[in-house]
Amino acid sequence: MGSRQITVSVNGVSHTREVEPRTLLVYFLRDTLGLLGTKIGCDTSSCGSCTVLMDGESVKSCTLLAVQADGTQLTTIEGLSTNGKLHPLQEAFRANHGLQCGYCTAGMVMAAAGYLATKDEVPDEESIRHALEGNLCRCTGYQNIVKAIAEAAPQLVGVPAAVGGAS
Ligand code: FES
Ligand code: FES
Repeated sequence: MGSRQITVSVNGVSHTREVEPRTLLVYFLRDTLGLLGTKIGCDTSSCGSCTVLMDGESVKSCTLLAVQADGTQLTTIEGLSTNGKLHPLQEAFRANHGLQCGYCTAGMVMAAAGYLATKDEVPDEESIRHALEGNLCRCTGYQNIVKAIAEAAPQLVGVPAAVGGAS
């Protein structure tokens, strides 16, 4: 089958590329654009490592084809900091040591960013745990991840998650 041209904005930069219709978005981000912060854990929509924001909503980029992202605005972990300053979630993960190997971290941060943007009040710990059910971590027992998200939440509830990426 022939390739198709798509245009996506990733972290505020527009990219037009030819892609095969079967290319998954996660491979487009990693292999075509070289954005290796988005991880592949399972390839079957179970682990959440590949979570990115599409038009401000968190999506698992292994569950979408790149062609489905045509015309959207994507944010990956590379686009979350602003002018070299960590995003509040990145800062909170660092401060609370919300990671061990770090493989799940980008997906956790992006999922949390998308989740908090949908809230209009600070969620309790149980709600945060529930929201993270689609993101698996093999290392941490989740305690510090949840603590980090709870710490960053007051700054982020109801704030649109980055659409264009770093500004
Ligand atoms: S790699 Fe996408 S959910 Fe696991
Ligand atoms: S920190 Fe290792 S998988 Fe989460």
